[in-house]
Amino acid sequence: MALIETHNLKKSFKTRRTIVDAVRGVTLRVEAGEIFGFLGPNGAGKTTTLRMLTTLLPPDGGQALVAGYDLLREPARIREQIGYVSQSGGVDVNATGRENLLLQARLYRVQQARQRTGELLSSLRLASYADRMARTYSGGERRRLDLAMGMVHRPKLLFLDEPTTGLDPQSRAHLWDEIRALCAGGTTVFLTTHYLEEADALCHRLAIMDHGTIVTEGTPENLKRSLARDVITLGLEPARLSDAGQLLQPQSFVQELQAGKEELRLYVEHAEELLPQIMQLLSHAQITPRTITLAHPTLDDVFLHITGRTLREEKGDAQ
Ligand SMILES: Nc1ncnc2c1ncn2[C@@H]1O[C@H](COP(=O)(O)OP(=O)(O)OP(=O)(O)O)[C@@H](O)[C@H]1O
Ligand SMILES: [Mg+2]
Repeated sequence: MALIETHNLKKSFKTRRTIVDAVRGVTLRVEAGEIFGFLGPNGAGKTTTLRMLTTLLPPDGGQALVAGYDLLREPARIREQIGYVSQSGGVDVNATGRENLLLQARLYRVQQARQRTGELLSSLRLASYADRMARTYSGGERRRLDLAMGMVHRPKLLFLDEPTTGLDPQSRAHLWDEIRALCAGGTTVFLTTHYLEEADALCHRLAIMDHGTIVTEGTPENLKRSLARDVITLGLEPARLSDAGQLLQPQSFVQELQAGKEELRLYVEHAEELLPQIMQLLSHAQITPRTITLAHPTLDDVFLHITGRTLREEKGDAQ
């Protein structure tokens, strides 16, 4: 069953001087039980799409069903079914974590609000800070509280806008675990990120967005497999480089071969499976590589392949 289904969703912003086409026709489908990621550089249109799907911003065109309801006709029904954690979060820093959660629970008319709040505080490892002002929380603690706020009414669909931006790698990994646990408990998660590693590690499926459109989508594995190749780099004595090149170039598994000063790079599919064969060929010719490295394509390669730019260059801060 699809929890989100959009068709040609569009949004432009008219500023004094120009019109910004922030989202130019987004069509996607998110199945129940998935962690679905929206990956893209700054200004790609991720937040704008999210704000439309969460009913905060009316689309200029297109249609969408969210949690089974029509975005344009039944926004109130959608709001009952979803949770939303914005890019900047929604915590009142001059209240404690517990107070923030209790207020949120009451706004949503959650039954037994106190009990639900206590449950969430302990499952998100916030119990020991629960009665401290939120302004004293670390970045990771704040983000966990944001997550708790988005979940307090047990939404079946949770939208997270850059849930881990600004967190250190360890806090990020912890938050991934929380999100996975949520998903295992039956919540469907739609998140945006500009971290390649996050999309790769966390998302079952993802769409890569650029300049307001989806440039490709699929499982992280399929995207990497379909668009980029593995690279085997052989470090060699300069004197044996051309022998090795002549030996390997004609092999049918080699899609492309590049020679450096002291290395050969072989572009292949399924590098691990080919390695024994390559070693055998070299050893017959009495060539012993000094080093061998094997690299799998990253989502960055996928983005590069499609747009001619890298996500890392675009963002500058994607680690
Ligand atoms: N209210 C607005 N008025 C004018 N332009 C806007 C408005 N909101 C967004 N935009 C523009 O729309 C484009 C998409 O913005 P959006 O916030 O959706 O990007 P994003 O993918 O979430 O980027 P980031 O990774 O920086 O959060 C940007 O060019 C942005 O400047
Ligand atoms: Mg954004």
